[in-house]
Amino acid sequence: LENGVGRTPPMGWNTWNTFGCNINETLIKQTADALVSSGMRDLGYEYVVVDDCWFAPERDSAGNLQANPSRFPSGMKALGDYLHARGLKFGLYQAPLDRTCAQYFGSYPGATGSLGHEEQDARQFAAWGVDYLKYDWCSPTGTIDDQVRTFAKMRDALAATGRPILYSINPNSIHEKTGPQRDWGDVANIWRTTEDITNAWDTGQTNGYPMGIKNIVDVNVPLAGNARPGQFNDPDMMVVGRGGMNDTEMRSHFALWAIMAAPLIAGNDIRNMDSATSTILKNANLIAINQDPLGLQAVQVGFDGTRRVLAKRLSNGDVAVALFNQGGSTTTISTTAAAIGLTGGPFTLRDAWTNAVTTTTGTISATVPAHGTAVFRVSGGTPAPPPVRIQGAGSGRCL
Ligand code: GLA
Repeated sequence: LENGVGRTPPMGWNTWNTFGCNINETLIKQTADALVSSGMRDLGYEYVVVDDCWFAPERDSAGNLQANPSRFPSGMKALGDYLHARGLKFGLYQAPLDRTCAQYFGSYPGATGSLGHEEQDARQFAAWGVDYLKYDWCSPTGTIDDQVRTFAKMRDALAATGRPILYSINPNSIHEKTGPQRDWGDVANIWRTTEDITNAWDTGQTNGYPMGIKNIVDVNVPLAGNARPGQFNDPDMMVVGRGGMNDTEMRSHFALWAIMAAPLIAGNDIRNMDSATSTILKNANLIAINQDPLGLQAVQVGFDGTRRVLAKRLSNGDVAVALFNQGGSTTTISTTAAAIGLTGGPFTLRDAWTNAVTTTTGTISATVPAHGTAVFRVSGGTPAPPPVRIQGAGSGRCL
């Protein structure tokens, strides 16, 4: 979406994965402070997104949304001010139908969705200082055409406010995916491509609730052609630091989200991170790959059912390559500079995890543990011509 924001994938934190409906202004403020003191803000984690359950179960007599008075007694404008004063940005959740997802499932009272209130709510968000709207279609019914119309209505309402607001949509929550996925770049900055993530490696399904890391990668990789500055596939918020996986799997999760140009929205409790979690989330090499201004999502250059090779062209001519072992035992994964679009040589390889630099005339290879991902930034050789993008090509060849 050409609305001036989301030129690289958004980075930040969201309440939902750890706290669900159990949120309040103290939690948000403490998390904002932790984003600053941990150094995460300075690495780019800027959006603080308050997910479902922040609002009062009823609109006011003029039909305006209101903050839940016991959870957010100071109101949403004050919360936005608190975030802005710390160099952070303010995100809020709403829904395009008559109710939010928690209201749909009965875990929160009321029916305060934005349906029929789009302009009014957009003006309210802008007045509160909102910088990011997560807009979540939570219903098994509706056609893609209904979704396009409804999501576009809020897109236009946000634009009419004059405030740049990053627009994040979820067309895939409990909405059966029966056909090819749509490129939502005409409607939103980021759009969910899968069902909700959970902190597990593999839930054995690619079209159902919930999804593990490996399952999400299977769905999101072929959608690479839809990503570019202003519009990115959203394989859901991260579960780094949420348990349920070992360290190798957590590192793979982060590396793959980074190279897939996914939004890097942390979902753990930032106030209480262990050092392994903090090291993963603060990997500056991977963040730089994710935030590269070319805005490409890695394309798949090799996959034998176990060993997956992904390559992401970067703006200075380097190419980031991920060697991802989906299998259950250690294996060697190899590719070549030629396969990732580089000619000439020799090349230097910088390991994104260890910073170790090696040189090669062409072979790029690593021994990768079960569920592990090696990532190298490959430099040198003859600069490749600018990437050619084939519109609507799905698995788009963007190298
Ligand atoms: C859906 C979304 C989640 C979260 C919840 C809130 O499940 O996919 O990310 O926003 O709703 O109820």
